[in-house]
Amino acid sequence: MEEINPWSSQPLVDVEKLFTDFGIETIENVLPMIPEVPSFMRRRIVIGHRDYQQIAGCISDKRPFHVLTGFMPSGHPHLGHLMVMKEVVWHVQQGGSGYVAIADREAHAVRGISWEKCDEFGKEYLACLCALGFEGTTYFQSRNNRLKDLAFEAATKVNFSELTAIYGFGADTELAHAESVITQVADILFPQVDSGPAPTVVPVGVDQDPHIRLARGIAHKMRMFTIEEREGYISVRSKNAPEAALNAVKSAFPHAKKYEGHVDIKGGTCTEVAARVREIERAHGGFAFYTPSSTYHIFMPGLTGGKMSSSIPESTISFHEPDPVVRKKVMNGITGGRMTLEEQKRLGGEPDRCSLYLLNLFHMVTEDAELAEIRRKCLGGEITCGQCKKDTAERVVAFLKEFREKIDACTDTIRV
Ligand code: TRP
Ligand code: SF4
Repeated sequence: MEEINPWSSQPLVDVEKLFTDFGIETIENVLPMIPEVPSFMRRRIVIGHRDYQQIAGCISDKRPFHVLTGFMPSGHPHLGHLMVMKEVVWHVQQGGSGYVAIADREAHAVRGISWEKCDEFGKEYLACLCALGFEGTTYFQSRNNRLKDLAFEAATKVNFSELTAIYGFGADTELAHAESVITQVADILFPQVDSGPAPTVVPVGVDQDPHIRLARGIAHKMRMFTIEEREGYISVRSKNAPEAALNAVKSAFPHAKKYEGHVDIKGGTCTEVAARVREIERAHGGFAFYTPSSTYHIFMPGLTGGKMSSSIPESTISFHEPDPVVRKKVMNGITGGRMTLEEQKRLGGEPDRCSLYLLNLFHMVTEDAELAEIRRKCLGGEITCGQCKKDTAERVVAFLKEFREKIDACTDTIRV
């Protein structure tokens, strides 16, 4: 089984493998549970999840949940970051309490970005989020002391051989790199420490799944109890609960029997027992974490093919580039067009391989009918790539004009 490397510059292509090798579930199986399916799920940009059932349940029953994601401030924010920003904003609109981490520790440790640059880029990310309507808590990792304490606590639950198995870390891996990993785990758990245990969804790109798996494992290890449904009863087992907490579990249920290291409960549902046990765990100084959920979106390909990255300026568009540059980048973008006009008319284009079609699909065309029309014309050879690119360039320019105004209106309000 090949491992996923979150710091690689290669795009991850084999999405099917994610499902089979890593146990990510397809998004299809939760869509029926979501009251209003957002466009990024309808359009299959978000393709997978772990444990999203619990989030869908919170959305439809209006129960509290958290949403958190993080951005590494290693360059200016650009089109490639918009998707996850929109996902966070949508979850906040669905009732989630929102959190965004600026991963300056990771940018400094892994990419060697100076702290000054981290601040500068970090503020730009926050201004974009504000422009998209994000409301909630934001922080820089390096300035969040409670986060750093949580990272230290989480670090008691992981050893180097696990880091080697997950990330391929070796004897020459810098300690700070490992610290940035555990800081990300702390990010993922932070909302539950800050505003109480609740299901938490972490929208990320598929490359971030190793962090999600690690965080889920650690969240479980940091619990005092595990709750298991057995035939005819529910067993609450202590992992590292103080005796007083186990006694409290026994007293909380009329038909409970206490044994060495566990309490067996007759009657009551697993959900009820789990909720009560969580309260007891909290009252005895525990974290009572819900295991975090995640969603996975595919990446928008770069305009030059390959990955969209600020280290390849032609591959992407950042939000303050002058219009002529934006037009030029779009006009030079790789399409799914044919070699000749004759072939294009006869065979049609290949929208799924076209960076510009995907740019439209991800962000530039909000109406499904309009997008379907572009797809139909492309497939039927009814439109030339030249014209289609021009249309796209104008959409991007218009989008950026509006977005920039919102960003600029937010910029003064952002403090580090
Ligand atoms: N590692 C992420 C990236 O490279 C950034 C990040 C930091 C993050 N903390 C996070 C993502 C918490 C999701 C959740 O982009
Ligand atoms: Fe892409 Fe448009 Fe050309 Fe189709 S017609 S391949 S969508 S540029």
